[in-house]
Amino acid sequence: MGKDRSPHVLVFPIPLQGHINSMIKLAELLALAGFRLTFLNSDLNHNRLLKFTNFATHFARYPGFEFKTITDGLPLDHPRSGNWFMEMYEQVIETKMKQNLREMLLNISPPVDCIIGDGFLGFSIDVAKELGIPIICFRTSSPHGFWAYYSIPDIIQAGELPIKDMDRLITTVPGMETYLRCRDLPSFCRAPDMEDPIIKLVVKETRRSTQADALILNTTEELDGPILSQICTKCPTVYAIGPINAQLNTRLKAEHREPHDHFSNTLWEEDESCISWLDKQPNRSVIYVSFGSITSMSREKLVELWYGLINSKAKFLLVVRPNFVTGDEGEDDVVCELLEKTKDRGYTVHWAPQEAVLNHPAVGGFLTHSGWNSTLESIVAGVPMICWPYFADQQVNSRAVSEVWKIGLDMKDVCDRKTVEKMVNDVMVDQKEFSKSATELSQVTNRSVSVGGSSYNNLDRLVEDIRVMCLKTPQKMMAS
Ligand code: UDX
Repeated sequence: MGKDRSPHVLVFPIPLQGHINSMIKLAELLALAGFRLTFLNSDLNHNRLLKFTNFATHFARYPGFEFKTITDGLPLDHPRSGNWFMEMYEQVIETKMKQNLREMLLNISPPVDCIIGDGFLGFSIDVAKELGIPIICFRTSSPHGFWAYYSIPDIIQAGELPIKDMDRLITTVPGMETYLRCRDLPSFCRAPDMEDPIIKLVVKETRRSTQADALILNTTEELDGPILSQICTKCPTVYAIGPINAQLNTRLKAEHREPHDHFSNTLWEEDESCISWLDKQPNRSVIYVSFGSITSMSREKLVELWYGLINSKAKFLLVVRPNFVTGDEGEDDVVCELLEKTKDRGYTVHWAPQEAVLNHPAVGGFLTHSGWNSTLESIVAGVPMICWPYFADQQVNSRAVSEVWKIGLDMKDVCDRKTVEKMVNDVMVDQKEFSKSATELSQVTNRSVSVGGSSYNNLDRLVEDIRVMCLKTPQKMMAS
C-alpha cells in the first residue's frame, strides 16, 4: 500500500438486522477516521435498506464509502424466518458466500487492506489468510454470549451438559461461576444431544474467531471487564469499543453533525407515529415492548403477554413485526384484534424507531428479548428492562441484566399474564431502584465513549493499529 492513501477496509456482516446494525455503525466510525470503506451486504438486505432508509444519501458524504452486494445463497422469495441463518449456514450460505467473497476480493480496486468480518463468518478468515489480507473479527453478540459459546466443550467435558437441572449453577465458565445457571446458558445448550449440529456450529465459529488477527466487541470495559479478561486469554488483541451506537453519536457530535443525522439502518419501515403518541404521555409512564428482528411468538403467548400488559398499571408501546406471530390463525387477525382493544392503554406498530423510542422521556421500561443491540441501546438510554429471552446469547444477556448489572428483571421461560403484570408493575411502579441503577449504569457507559473513556481510547487504538497493520502487510492477492 502506498503511504499516501488511506487504508481500504471491507466490512462484512451476517445478513441479519442485529449484525448489520452494529457493523454499519462501525463502518461509519472508520469512515469518520478517514478510511476508504466497502460495506458488503446481502442483495436482499441491500435492497431493503434502499427501500426503507436514506442510507445511500447518508453515506454519500464519505468519499470512498461504497456498498457492494453478495448473495446469501437462498432464493429471494425464501421466507428467512426463525433460525433460518443457522439452519442453512453450512448447507448453502457458507459455500456460496465464501466463493463470492474470494472472487470479489481478487477483483476489487483498490485492493482491500483489512477485512472486518462478522465473527460468525469463519470462512472469511480462511479467505483472508489465503490472500494475505489482515482480518479482524467483530462479534456482534454479547461478550457473555461469546464466552459461554467458547466454553461449551469444557462444560460438556465437565459433565455439566446435557442439562439435568435447569437451576443448577454452572461451574465451568470462568468469570460466571456465581450467577450462571443451566437455564442461562445459550439456548442451543438445551438440546438433549451434545452432537447437535447447531451446537457444533456455534462452537466451531466461536473458536475460529480467535484465529483472526484481533477481535472487536460491542461493549465497554466498565460493563464487561471480568469477561473481557477471560476472552483475552484466548485472543490477546481485543478492542472493546461499544456501545457502538453511543460511540458513533459522540464522534458525530464532535464533527458537529446531528446524532445519526436522521439515518436509520433498519430493514423494515419505521412507524414514526408512535413518537407523536409518546409525546402525549407523562414522563416514564410507558413500557416499550419489542422483540427484535428474528423472534417469533405463538398466538397464545402474544395474547398472554397482551393481557399482562393491559392488566398492569402502565401504558405500553408494542411492536408486532410482520411475520412475528406463528401458527395458523394469521398474524393480521391477531394484530387487528389487539389494536382495536389496545387503544386506551397502548399503541401498536409493526416496527419502531427503537433508539428514539428508548430515549423518549415517556418511556420508563423496556420489555425485551434481550438481543444484544437492544440491551445496549437500553443501557445507553438508562431504561430498566424486563427480559424475556428467545434464543442464542439472549438467555445469558438477561441473566447479566438481572444479576450482574441489576437493572431489571429476568422473565426467562415464563410468560403468563400474571407474571407479566407483576413484573411490569415492579419495574414501572413499585421498584424505583431499577430506574436509579439504570441511570447510573447509563452514565458510566456513556462516559466510556466520551473523550478519554475506555471505549473511546480503544477505538482510537483500533484505527491506529489498522493503519500500521496495513502498512506492514504485503498483499498476495494476485497469487491465484
Ligand atoms: C440478534 C441479537 O443481536 C443477538 O442476541 C443474537 O445473537 C442474534 O441476533 P435481534 O434479535 O434482531 O438480533 O436483536 P437485537 O440485537 O436487539 O437487534 C435488533 C435491532 O433492531 C436493534 O438495534 C433495534 O434498535 C432494532 N429495532 C428493533 C428497531 O429499530 N425497531 C424495532 O421495532 C425493533
